[in-house]
Amino acid sequence: MIAIASDHAGVEMKAAIVAHLQNRIIDCGPTTDDSVDYPDYAKKVVDQIKDKKADFGILICGTGIGMSIAANRCPSIRAGLCRAVLDAILTREHNDANVLCLGARTTLIDDAIKIVDVFLKTKFSDADRHTRRIDKLSTCSC
Ligand code: RB5
Repeated sequence: MIAIASDHAGVEMKAAIVAHLQNRIIDCGPTTDDSVDYPDYAKKVVDQIKDKKADFGILICGTGIGMSIAANRCPSIRAGLCRAVLDAILTREHNDANVLCLGARTTLIDDAIKIVDVFLKTKFSDADRHTRRIDKLSTCSC
């Protein structure tokens, strides 16, 4: 399953992705475009992954930056902000990203759908160098 959430800026893009992924997605809100705080919604998706209710997450805010900063506070999350299909390929292959962050004010919805599809179908390249680098991410915690 895939968990998705946004802030107010990303509600329209979220709805399009939910409609596209249909029964593969857990929608963690919000349901209206009333102003909300992106860390509250990043946490909802992070918790779905931590609790093993979802394998992947999608987080949308205006730029995707706030959501990626918030999600990456959790040590088991590797959130990648993607604005192009190549970002999605490489963050899956190289970073084994488990959360895709999108910017509703920086990316068109049609492009976001393409990025989502590629992100979800691309496998991690388990080459030793990528695994070694991911293992070293914990050394960046402070
Ligand atoms: C909300 O206006 C905006 O700050 C938020 O969506 C996001 O872009 C933050 O990183």
